[in-house]
Amino acid sequence: MSNVLVLKSSISGNNSQTNQLVDYAVEKLQGNNIIVRDLSQQPLPYFDTAATIAVRGEPKNDEEKQLLALSDELVSELKNAKTLVIGAPMYNLGIPTQLKTYFDFIARPRVTFQYTAGPEELLKGKKAIVLCAFGGLYDEENLVTQYMKSILGFIGITDVQFVYAQGIGFGPEAIEKAQASAKNKINEIVAAL
Ligand SMILES: Cc1cc2nc3c(=O)[nH]c(=O)nc-3n(C[C@H](O)[C@H](O)[C@H](O)COP(=O)(O)O)c2cc1C
Repeated sequence: MSNVLVLKSSISGNNSQTNQLVDYAVEKLQGNNIIVRDLSQQPLPYFDTAATIAVRGEPKNDEEKQLLALSDELVSELKNAKTLVIGAPMYNLGIPTQLKTYFDFIARPRVTFQYTAGPEELLKGKKAIVLCAFGGLYDEENLVTQYMKSILGFIGITDVQFVYAQGIGFGPEAIEKAQASAKNKINEIVAAL
């Protein structure tokens, strides 16, 4: 049994393709200690000046102190996890605002990353499974894949596997195929964990 942190970020409600994949992965990972954070249903606060002071400066007032406490909670959850499962839909070429905000709250100098000559990553030894859904068809150069690889690498998570449900905009048949092939891939990844 190990600790799994699951992040959902879709804004598509019951029609969400990534949430379907995340739920499938969670089912396959039963028996582990799983924490699920739905960043769309329970959104984090907007990452603004107070939040920046909280996580990168010296929090002084109550608002800043509360934002630091929230960031501490997220970082502690992340540090405790051995495996991350992240739903990462493509919206307007990038990741959802909700997921970007999560990374804004957990990217902490000297806590989750460190600048020396370059960023020295502090969260080594974890695995991440990123479950993507795209309306169209993309190669690995797409911005969701590139950003997720970069931000996870920045904090030391370099063992990252991507699962894609692509062509969601092409209709029900394409969705069915994309879901089936993504679920097969999830089976393979979970079996090899
Ligand atoms: C606001 C919005 C923007 C989108 N932008 C893109 C896009 O830039 N490229 C693309 O291929 N699909 C785009 N799509 C389609 C989604 O990637 C697709 O619906 C996918 O299933 C989203 O994941 P979800 O169902 O888990 O929310 C967009 C969908 C929405 C709602």
